[in-house]
Amino acid sequence: MDNDLNPNRHIYNTKYSDSHLSLNKEGMLSYDKEMINMRLEILQRYSFGRTVLDLCCGTGSYLLHYLEKYPLAVGVDFSRNMLTILKKKLGGEVPTNLLLLECDAQQIGLQSESMDFVFSFTSLYYVPRVGEALAEINRVLKPGGVAAFELGNLWSLNTYVCEIENRKRGVAKSFHVPYRAILKMIQAANLTILEHRVFQILPMWGRGVLWLRPLIDWRWKWLMGIKVAGRMIDEWISGLWPLRLLAFRHLFVCQKTA
Ligand SMILES: C[S@@+](CC[C@H](N)C(=O)[O-])C[C@H]1O[C@@H](n2cnc3c(N)ncnc32)[C@H](O)[C@@H]1O
Repeated sequence: MDNDLNPNRHIYNTKYSDSHLSLNKEGMLSYDKEMINMRLEILQRYSFGRTVLDLCCGTGSYLLHYLEKYPLAVGVDFSRNMLTILKKKLGGEVPTNLLLLECDAQQIGLQSESMDFVFSFTSLYYVPRVGEALAEINRVLKPGGVAAFELGNLWSLNTYVCEIENRKRGVAKSFHVPYRAILKMIQAANLTILEHRVFQILPMWGRGVLWLRPLIDWRWKWLMGIKVAGRMIDEWISGLWPLRLLAFRHLFVCQKTA
């Protein structure tokens, strides 16, 4: 789907601001705080001292968090609005170790084998042909380079909530993929899975669906956010076979197959 046909560029240019993507944890439930911490912990583990690409960087919430740790950091996003907000957060001046590119995740304007680490948080399920984005991740990674990204499972309650929220409230349109197709796409992109973590057996957000109300009640999110033996209850449950076939959020850390 070309950008002109992909409704999300317009949606991110007109409807989203930094407040939607901020990592400011004040007033957040511990579930959301834990998800943010988990992503930051992945960055601590894999990205410091490396050349780093944040694919679909939005307003730079994750990219800017450890910016001083990177010799070179690249932010890619197709929304000019998102990138403008990111620049404003930097006081209008882009540091010398940061490059911002306005382009599509399915066609990244970077040289092949130029990045040590690529990450994409909370974004790739908005990309229509996500297999092409994975192929691009592989292309820009150096041999042995690492990528961390989240993909969305089509056969999840969250798919239903996303569709309703898109129709009723105009939030970004999702393009989720069945679980087995996700695994095949990763394999096709020549990426070897190092870590696979699964979340969101329940949607955890949304308002519009009457029959789902009991399942999107905030008390579930509170309960699922409780940590047991280092992981949230949500992750323990969502990762169970066969529940993982129906859980929404699949986070992968992969290595480019040499
Ligand atoms: C939910 S936001 C997340 C932003 C950031 N990754 C974060 O976690 O704060 C999704 C971002 O993906 C971008 N995006 C969606 N589809 C894209 C595409 N096909 N190519 C490039 N950027 C895209 C949007 O413009 C938006 O900034």
